[in-house]
Formats: sequence, C-alpha cells, structure tokens
Amino acid sequence: MSVPFTRHRRLRQSAAIRSMVRETVLNPADFIQPIYVTFGTGVKQEISSMPGVYRFSLDQLEEELKEISELGIPAVLLFGIPETKDSVGTSAFVDNGIVQEATRLIKSRYPELLVVADTCLCEFTDHGHCGMVHMHEHDGEICGEVLNDESLEVLVRTAVSQARAGADIIAPSNMMDGFVQAIRQGLDLEGFSHIPIMSYSVKYASAFYGPFREAADSAPQFGDRKSYQMDPANAREALREAESDVLEGADMLMVKPSLSYLDVMRTIKDQFDLPLVAYNVSGEYAMVKAAALQGWIDEKAMVMEILTSMKRAGADMIITYSAKDAARWLKQ
Ligand code: PBG
Repeated sequence: MSVPFTRHRRLRQSAAIRSMVRETVLNPADFIQPIYVTFGTGVKQEISSMPGVYRFSLDQLEEELKEISELGIPAVLLFGIPETKDSVGTSAFVDNGIVQEATRLIKSRYPELLVVADTCLCEFTDHGHCGMVHMHEHDGEICGEVLNDESLEVLVRTAVSQARAGADIIAPSNMMDGFVQAIRQGLDLEGFSHIPIMSYSVKYASAFYGPFREAADSAPQFGDRKSYQMDPANAREALREAESDVLEGADMLMVKPSLSYLDVMRTIKDQFDLPLVAYNVSGEYAMVKAAALQGWIDEKAMVMEILTSMKRAGADMIITYSAKDAARWLKQ
C-alpha cells in the first residue's frame, strides 16, 4: 500500500483559487501614516535615512493630507519638531505647540481624517529623554536619571492639550509606569472621557528607532532609554506591561517595533481582547528602502509581505511609513 500524502498544491494552482483561500488580506483602512510636522514656512525636507518621508511645515501639508485621505487611509500619527526645547519639554504642552497647531489645521481641512497624537517628551526636551530628568555629575561626566512620577504630570498636560486641539486618539509612547492611568484621569477630568488611548504598551529599547531620532531630532543627549523601554530579550515581561495597561484603562495596545517582535504580537493578541496595533518603525522602513535603492530587492513585494506578516501575527492596525505606497499598490 502506498503512503498517502496530501495534495496541498490543489489550492495553489491559480491566482483565483489562491485568492479564495487567502487568510490575511490588507486594506488601506488598516494603515496609520506617521507625519513629521515642523515650525516655519516652506519646509518640505526629506529625511536622509528615510527616502520618501518628509518634515513638513504646516503650509506644506495640504498635498500630503489630500493624498492620504484620497487613498482611504483613515488616520495619521503626528510627531512634532518644535522651535525651542527646554528641560521640561514646555513646547509639548503649550496651546500653540506644533502638534496642537497641526491637529487644528488637519481637523479643519479633513475632519474625517483621524488625528492620533504621540504623547511623549523626547522631541521637546533639550536632553532628549521621554520624561523629566534629574541631572548630576559623576567622575566628570554628566549623568541623569529619568524620573517616573514627576514625568506623569507633564505627560498629562501634553495629552490634555492635544485633546483640546482636537486629537481623536491619544497615543502615549513615553514608557513611564502609570502613564495610562494618569492620562485617562487627566482626560476625563477635562471633559475628554470619549477620547481613546492607544497605548505603546510593549515598546522595546530598539536600534530600529535610529532614523526616527534623526527625523524628530530626539536622540538622548546622554545615556540611553534602557531604564524605561523594554529589553528586546524579554517576552513574558510584555504580558505584564500589557496587563497593567489594560487595568489602567487603555483602549488599544501596541507592540513596537513590529518586524522583529511578531512573536510578541501573537502572544499579546491571544491573551488580550483589545485591538492590537503594530508599529512598523523607521529602521524597518529604512532597511527596505536602502536595499530597494540598490536594486537588491523587489520593494513592493517586500513591503507587502512585511505588512501582511504583521496582520497575520495579529495586528488590527499598522502604523507604517509605507502606508501611502501600500494603499496605492492595493488599488492597482
Ligand atoms: C517617542 C517615539 C519614538 C518613536 C515613536 N515615538 C522614538 C524613541 O522612543 O526613541 C519611534 C518611531 C520610529 O522609529 O518610527 N518616544
């Protein structure tokens, strides 16, 4: 008797049959496009390590917004590069801050486009850390400690000012303990109980943020972020981070970066019922772009495979610098 075997190829024999059995399908509605906004006028400056991604002054945003909206991408994530920085990140929470002004502009021009505001301080502090810092000198070297509870108040002020400017979703990325609870209470007190929190719950201390720090001018001026962002070696710790955010009132959970952490995404997806967000970060984008510019890879095929793998791993939404490209390719 011959050994039976399964003919898997029956369901792969034509494009039509493959499309019928496809388990994961991308849609422009899955994507969130990050945008870097800066002060001044007439600025549309390409980020050298992220070809195709720009810093825009507000007067230059229209074309970008129109394209995003026409492609059916439902949301943008705003990062601001302020004119001035100080030790407490004042420009993060003032009413005429760059993110607040951009939010007002976007909501007035494209009310249906969702504005997600990244709530962090590293772009706005002169030391480049995501919270308040206690500086001291040690053996002639400047050191600093990032203070947790002291940072919460400033983060709450930032989130409230973003909501007041019209942000639809608050996305805290600072990795201080208790930030979801603090921001939830702050928003509720100010009449923003309807504004959801997309928490950067599981955020690793990653080398993949390199190009972002160039784009947002937010590299830490001393030390690194390892005392608040997670160790890439840890997966069970991700469950504890996600669980505390759920208890504190998060509405969506995020895993960041995404490509090297698909296992973590799958675990979070299986353990928690909240919508899951993948952040396909700057370094992931830069790697693909660099290889594509050399002619070493098929950019379109590779981007679509990466985004599909994130959705397959459990992402309900994907923040990606490739959102416009991918939406365009999906329409072809
Ligand atoms: C702010 C923040 C960072 C990113 C998003 N929000 C940088 C960091 O933590 O250093 C990175 C995004 C990207 O790489 O695309 N804390």
